[in-house]
Amino acid sequence: MKTQTILMPLDMHLHLRDTVMLENVAPLSAYSFSGAIIMPNLVPPVATLEDVKAYKERIMASVPNDYFEPYMTLFYKNYDKKFLESVADEISAIKLYPAGITTNSEGGVSSFDIEEMRKTLEAMSELEIPLCVHGETDGFVMDREAEFMSIYEMLAVNFPKLKIIMEHITTKEAVAMLDKYENLHATITVHHLLLTLDDVVGGMMMPHNFCKPIAKRPEDLDALLTVALEAHPKVMFGSDSAPHPQHAKESCGCAAGVFTAPIALQLLCEIFEQYDKLDNLQSFVSDNAQNIYGICPEFKEIVLEKRAFTIPEHYGSVVPMYAGQTINWAIESVE
Ligand code: NCD
Ligand code: ZN
Repeated sequence: MKTQTILMPLDMHLHLRDTVMLENVAPLSAYSFSGAIIMPNLVPPVATLEDVKAYKERIMASVPNDYFEPYMTLFYKNYDKKFLESVADEISAIKLYPAGITTNSEGGVSSFDIEEMRKTLEAMSELEIPLCVHGETDGFVMDREAEFMSIYEMLAVNFPKLKIIMEHITTKEAVAMLDKYENLHATITVHHLLLTLDDVVGGMMMPHNFCKPIAKRPEDLDALLTVALEAHPKVMFGSDSAPHPQHAKESCGCAAGVFTAPIALQLLCEIFEQYDKLDNLQSFVSDNAQNIYGICPEFKEIVLEKRAFTIPEHYGSVVPMYAGQTINWAIESVE
């Protein structure tokens, strides 16, 4: 039987939520990943040293073993250097959301005035704290990411020492930026390697495929596949697995977020095998992230096997992407 081994898989963009949802989803990521960059968009957001420490403790308390490292992030505000110095050892990045652009981002940045941000971004450069960005404007939904490219350029040029991660990229415009600016990197989700807008609203509306940024055009999907499959050194896997309870997804006013954490590695194997690129999967799901973030996770080995696996209809209150569908790869063992 065909197998694929992955060492220390990392999920460089993950939503774990809190309380009951945290207890439901954190063990699923801890099972198959060595670690994950934990998003700070709780209500209220993770914005103080105490918040970071307490949230990390709640995460550790909700996973069954200590083989999972939550790489913590702080919700971006125009922090001063003294505060950043005090928190630098506890965080792996700071996450910037434009205000109101996605789930729980109301406290985000409302103006990209470079002078207002300079103090914070210079301090982050000096302290080597990466800046993760949700790169969307409030324009027309299909154009939001492409319109954000001028903001990425402004950040990249003004803060050349700042490591900037373009989160969950969905467009050929974002892919093109990777080779243009040395300090721009990107995460790519598994759902954006599979879906276009047609899979969201092309037939019947599919709430479990709906997320921000929305899946785009076939040519965008092709551009994402190109850099993911070649494991371009500046891209890394970040699931953006974003659980919402079933009633919040299957409702009028569907919440944005696709839940993929427990099926991500299986789907990635399927995609990389389909294009005969399984040799590059290790770099895409771990090595590139280790290089970009300078992290060194504890040993963990996941063996996947090529056999039929039917995705569960539910993980607790959450419906995963492709619920009930059968895919070709399953997790065989975790050590
Ligand atoms: C995320 C969430 O639900 O927190 N939703 C999403 O559609 N991706 C937030 C985000 O990363 O945009
Ligand atoms: Zn996200």
